[in-house]
Amino acid sequence: MTPAGASAARRGFGQTSRNDAWWLQPLTVFIGLSIFLVYANFRVFQNAYFEFGGYLTPFYSPLLWGDSPHAWFQGVPDWLPRWISPAMVILVFPAGFRFTCYYYRGAYYKAFWGDPPACAVGELRDEFRGENSLPLIVQNVHRYFLYFAIAFLFLLAHDAWKGMWFDDGAGGKEFGIGVGTIVLTLNVVFLSGYTLGCHSLRHLVGGFLDVFSGSKGRKKAWDCVTCLNEHHMKWAWISLIWVMFTDLYVSMLARGEWTDWRIL
Ligand code: FES
Repeated sequence: MTPAGASAARRGFGQTSRNDAWWLQPLTVFIGLSIFLVYANFRVFQNAYFEFGGYLTPFYSPLLWGDSPHAWFQGVPDWLPRWISPAMVILVFPAGFRFTCYYYRGAYYKAFWGDPPACAVGELRDEFRGENSLPLIVQNVHRYFLYFAIAFLFLLAHDAWKGMWFDDGAGGKEFGIGVGTIVLTLNVVFLSGYTLGCHSLRHLVGGFLDVFSGSKGRKKAWDCVTCLNEHHMKWAWISLIWVMFTDLYVSMLARGEWTDWRIL
């Protein structure tokens, strides 16, 4: 009898006995991630239109330097090349978190270099080395990016809070809710749904234990992370699309193209 894996390994690249549209998902991922990468790179290098009043786009948060009330350090250091934007420095962390995410790895391995193109579809190489050697073993750094991603949730939540304060016309601030406030707040909600459903976090809160009895708090935390983790792919896409839309929204306000309607 021929082992099941042997017949699959003999398939040529892209050959399969599947008769469904197996190529649709990798193609959708390829298009979706490509759009995001092009947009994000454009915005990171643009180094402009990243704030509007109390709103700060997540692509530039935290704003480490600049002539802005949002900036941690006022002004631009003389020694810094002008083409370096604050976003380039901070986006390494959320980008690294997404790039090494267990879900995205599976998705872009299929979509960008067809390894494999899809389940039960022939691939280029006939051996599976996994992620146990260079370069892919580096993906294990994901668990460390998680700590930064959690810190970013607090920073972005603080931005959403600042988006609730508007000029009162007398030199002070007054509480309010604009469409932008809701956009910034939803960004935190969606990013939290994605980050707090991370596989590494699930291991962090529920790993190292043989049984949960006697660790009710960790059991509860593990249940919560597991609940989000079950829909990790959806959270990944919703949060990715929304963070892009949040940046677009703030940038369009800053350019004077869109109007931010005050709800409260
Ligand atoms: S596995 Fe996706 S964010 Fe950690």
